[in-house]
Amino acid sequence: MNFQKKKYGIVILSALALSCTSSKKIVSTTNKKLPIDIKVDSVLKLMTLDEKVGQLNQYNGFWDVTGPSPKNGQAAKKYENLKKGLVGSMLNIKGVKDVRALQKIAIEETRLGIPLIFGFDVIHGYKTISPIPLAESASWDMDAIKRSAAIAAEESAAVGINWTFAPMVDVSRDARWGRVMEGAGEDPFLGSKIAVARVQGFQGDFSYKNILACAKHFAGYALAESGRDYNTVDVSENTLQNTIFPPFKASVDAGVRTFMNSFNELNGIPATGNAYLQREVLKGDWKFDGLVVSDWGSINEMIAHGYAKDSKQAAEIALNAGSDMDMESSAYVEHLSQLVKEGKVKETLIDDAVRRVLKVKFELGLFENPYKYCDEAREAATVGKAEFQEGVLDMAKKSIVLLKNEKGLLPLKKSGQKIAIIGALANDKSSPLGSWRLAADDNSAVSVLEGLEKYSGNQLSFAKGADLSVGRTEFIWETKINTTDKSGFEEAIALAKNSDVVVMVLGEHGLQSGEGRSRSELGLPGVQEELLEAVYKANPNIILVLNNGRPLAIPWAAENIPAIVEAWQLGSQSGNAIAQVLYGDYNPSGKLPMTFPRSVGQLPLYYNYKNTGRPTMNEPDSVFWSHFIDQKNTPQFPFGFGLSYTNFAYSDLKLSSPIFTKNGKIEVSIRIKNTGKVKGKEVVQLYIRDLIGSVTRPVKELKGFEMIELEPSETKTVTFTIDEKMTDYFTANRKWETEAGDFVVFVGTNSNETLEANFNYSN
Ligand code: BGC
Repeated sequence: MNFQKKKYGIVILSALALSCTSSKKIVSTTNKKLPIDIKVDSVLKLMTLDEKVGQLNQYNGFWDVTGPSPKNGQAAKKYENLKKGLVGSMLNIKGVKDVRALQKIAIEETRLGIPLIFGFDVIHGYKTISPIPLAESASWDMDAIKRSAAIAAEESAAVGINWTFAPMVDVSRDARWGRVMEGAGEDPFLGSKIAVARVQGFQGDFSYKNILACAKHFAGYALAESGRDYNTVDVSENTLQNTIFPPFKASVDAGVRTFMNSFNELNGIPATGNAYLQREVLKGDWKFDGLVVSDWGSINEMIAHGYAKDSKQAAEIALNAGSDMDMESSAYVEHLSQLVKEGKVKETLIDDAVRRVLKVKFELGLFENPYKYCDEAREAATVGKAEFQEGVLDMAKKSIVLLKNEKGLLPLKKSGQKIAIIGALANDKSSPLGSWRLAADDNSAVSVLEGLEKYSGNQLSFAKGADLSVGRTEFIWETKINTTDKSGFEEAIALAKNSDVVVMVLGEHGLQSGEGRSRSELGLPGVQEELLEAVYKANPNIILVLNNGRPLAIPWAAENIPAIVEAWQLGSQSGNAIAQVLYGDYNPSGKLPMTFPRSVGQLPLYYNYKNTGRPTMNEPDSVFWSHFIDQKNTPQFPFGFGLSYTNFAYSDLKLSSPIFTKNGKIEVSIRIKNTGKVKGKEVVQLYIRDLIGSVTRPVKELKGFEMIELEPSETKTVTFTIDEKMTDYFTANRKWETEAGDFVVFVGTNSNETLEANFNYSN
């Protein structure tokens, strides 16, 4: 608190006296009534060019923070720069003690004492881990997703962090890309709703329980060719506007305060140096007034892209293109001041970037209290608290998708059964935490085995069958998968033979998805498929529980295994959530946020595809239509798909009118009846097709959904409103508008099973 008096009380007054001679207002950085922009400018006026550049520099954590200060090398340089006021933000510093130590240097040892902001990848939880974002998205439950983000915010804020690099809002259409786990799946409409929920959950009202959110990666990162991470991206403006941008725009509208650009090039220009994306669209069209951070080292990566000849030119390009803060390239701190002196970068652009950085610092309340997030007592009382565990358990149950349930295998009977549990993942307490478990303790998730053991009525036995991974499994290493050792098969087969029912937990190791983990095959890794088929021969009563960070291609299992439960990577409470679903204490209601292919060759595969000129065979057995000669066009499980322990019957799709005109609307209603024996939740989905467009339109686009809960035999009518917001798109006129013409509306239980009606729009 001393800090404001010492650093600002006098200087700000004098700076303002110089600049606003007519103003009699007493300005201070802590005056709540004063507009933030005025406070920002008053600080900016005090800054030297080097200090301004310093605010645009973000360093990764660099030494044992509370130990002796570093003497040599990169760490010593970073430390020196910190003391000189040449650092605006740090990432990967956690724990109040360390955060406080660094903040203290910024506040007490630099000339102006401008506080740092502390970033961290709080992607789906800090120490208490929620389901991976793709799994959460399968809940289609915005309140639950918002709550999950709020838990992550509260827990990480308590350890000194005030900025998360989440949500990732990249629309993903290719399951080979490892980072599909980090996003909301393939749909821009669902993705936009989820982006808003996550931004609101993280940022709240910027109390000490909230942190800055960051919409990333702007833009196109998920469309890397062949799903190979960091690969080239070449997409049309039409796809950018209609598919990629909407969740980013929704984040801006929801008040997200920061953006991150991306590693990829977009149509020949690296996103980090892309003025169209950052200046024209984001800061221009969308009027985003928060800050844009580069991705890790992405400014210098423009050299490898072949877009900048050296770090200095990369700094020039990035800043001029609208990248405000340099994450870990050191290009800005090394070169920007010189570039201004040489006239290659205008100081007004530096000022704009610095304003954005200072602004979020004011918004967070750090100028009032730079130690707002540094409270040891709160840290001790908050991290891992029981209430968080309840929250992530609730989220985990809601994220589970029932893909198949035949032979009445599910829910499991609660007593008198001999149950075999097979698969290394059944006993894995780390994989459910996923790959972004940067602060979670290894082996801290509840395993499926532990979850099932809480139900005491049945006789459970476990056999691993085969190891999934071999050797070291750490965040940065490639995970080595067991592809040869089948020595445990025999024991698993014997156990299956001697059981009434078999629960097999198979899928991906927790470190097989995420950044840098693209896959060219999407089957069950290693020897798991062989294990599954061998056990099936011994006992076909198998419930397959999948643990994975992306859609898998499992055609044999989909055809033969009677019950399949998609349980993703569900976080700290994974095993408890799975057990409650398997035993029917929780009736699953999740719906796939991404299409599951039959084979890798179908990718990219998504429900909102374009029709092509040859969508069907026009003569029997003709080859001349858009298809594969060795695979169907249809997915294994479509977008929006998910079963329940009850059934829902859809009927009476009605439109209030078959036409609407400018500023008008149509009410669409549908009746849904629970025709089964238990209470259940259903996500009713509405899709639209615009039949003719100035630009070709997708065969179906999600435009609305509503979750309802029905008792057995209960019926509800759900009503949606069709208006121009539902029918507009980025047209050949390069603007968002609804074009006159005919449309189809589809309502149903997933993107493939719907009732439909027609309507017309005229303007
Ligand atoms: C990732 C970002 C992440 C950043 C900081 C990068 O490698 O692409 O999503 O936020 O590292 O850890």
